[in-house]
This record gives sequence, structure tokens and C-alpha cells, in this order.
Amino acid sequence: MNVSRNFLLVGSLFLILGILIGMYMGGSGEHTLAPAHAHINLLGFVLSVLFALVYRSYADMGASKLATYHFWLHVVGTAILIVMLLMLLTGKITEAGMAPMAPLAELAVLIGVILFLVNLWKNAK
Ligand code: HEM
Ligand code: HEM
Repeated sequence: MNVSRNFLLVGSLFLILGILIGMYMGGSGEHTLAPAHAHINLLGFVLSVLFALVYRSYADMGASKLATYHFWLHVVGTAILIVMLLMLLTGKITEAGMAPMAPLAELAVLIGVILFLVNLWKNAK
């Protein structure tokens, strides 16, 4: 798959959601969702676009299976984290209710970044 393009596409979807939540907060004066807004934009958009640009700059990295695994771990992990964070901030679940899904989603994002580093080490020439 074209990991770079897919990271750009998914990242842009995260950005649209992040901006919509930002606009809601700005308009309503209700800033409870700020941590979710920050992570949708930073983890969802900024990191995805940075990964896309690296995979585009280093073609051998983008062509590696490690990049595909990283893409899925990052996207699925981030999406789960954001949904759970939104549920927490809107009182649908408690802090205790975040386990075990949120830690697993964080682990997925972390493993994705470790694969990114391994890929850099092996293929960024
Ligand atoms: C039209 C777009 C945006 C609007 C209307 C918007 C609006 C807001 C608002 C109202 C807050 C809450 C401020 C507060 O409670 O002190 C906020 C916080 C924040 N925004 Fe945005 N934002 C936008 C885009 C972005 C983008 C693109 C990024 C990052 C790439 C970003 C990153 C952050 C961060 C890091 C915070 C701090 C969160 C916190 O203090 O917990 N925002 N934004
Ligand atoms: C799985 C990955 C991550 C986890 C589990 C995580 C978790 C957290 C937590 C628990 C906080 C404190 C929130 C609060 O005090 O309300 C926080 C704050 C923050 N994080 Fe992350 N974070 C992650 C990734 C990132 C990344 C990749 C970035 C930037 C590229 C980032 C930027 C920030 C910023 C700017 C704040 C301060 C926002 C605020 O003032 O509320 N985080 N993060």
C-alpha cells in the first residue's frame, strides 16, 4: 500500500475533526474537550503528516512492510484513544473505565513508533 498517501489522507480526516472540536470550543466557551482536541490535531494530524513525509523522502522505508504495520498501529491506536478520551471528558466513562482499552491503544501507538525507528535504522539511507 501507499503508506505515505494513506497517512496524509487519515491525518487530514483527524485535522477536520480536530478543527470542528476547536470551533465548537471557541464558539461555546466550553473548553472541556481541549485535551482531546490537542491530541486529535497533534497525534492524529501532525504526527501522521510527519510520518508521511519521512516515508515519501526515504522510499525504501515507505516500501517496507514495517511502514504498513506502523500505519495500522498508529491509526487504530490513535482512533481508539481519541474515542475513549472523548468518552472520558464527556462523562460517559470513568478514569477506571479507560482500562484496558486505552493502555492497549497507547501500546499500539508506541509499538508503531518503535517499528518506525527500526525501519529508519535499516532503510533510511
Ligand atoms: C480552526 C482551528 C482551531 C480552533 C478553532 C482551535 C481552538 C482551540 C480552543 C478553543 C482551545 C482551548 C484553549 C484553552 O482551553 O485554553 C484550543 C486548545 C489547543 N489547541 Fe486548538 N484550535 C484549532 C486548531 C488547532 C490545531 C491545528 C492544533 C495543532 C496542530 C491545535 C492545538 C491545540 C492545543 C495543543 C491546545 C491546548 C490544549 C490544552 O490546553 O489542553 N489547535 N484550541
Ligand atoms: C499515545 C500517546 C500519548 C499519550 C498517551 C498522551 C497523554 C497525555 C496526557 C495524559 C496529558 C495530560 C493531559 C491533561 O493534563 O489534561 C497530555 C498532555 C499533552 N500532550 Fe500528550 N499524549 C500522547 C501523545 C502526544 C503527542 C504525540 C503530542 C504532540 C505531538 C502530545 C502533546 C501533548 C500536549 C501539547 C499536552 C498538553 C495539553 C494540555 O495542556 O492539556 N501528546 N498527553
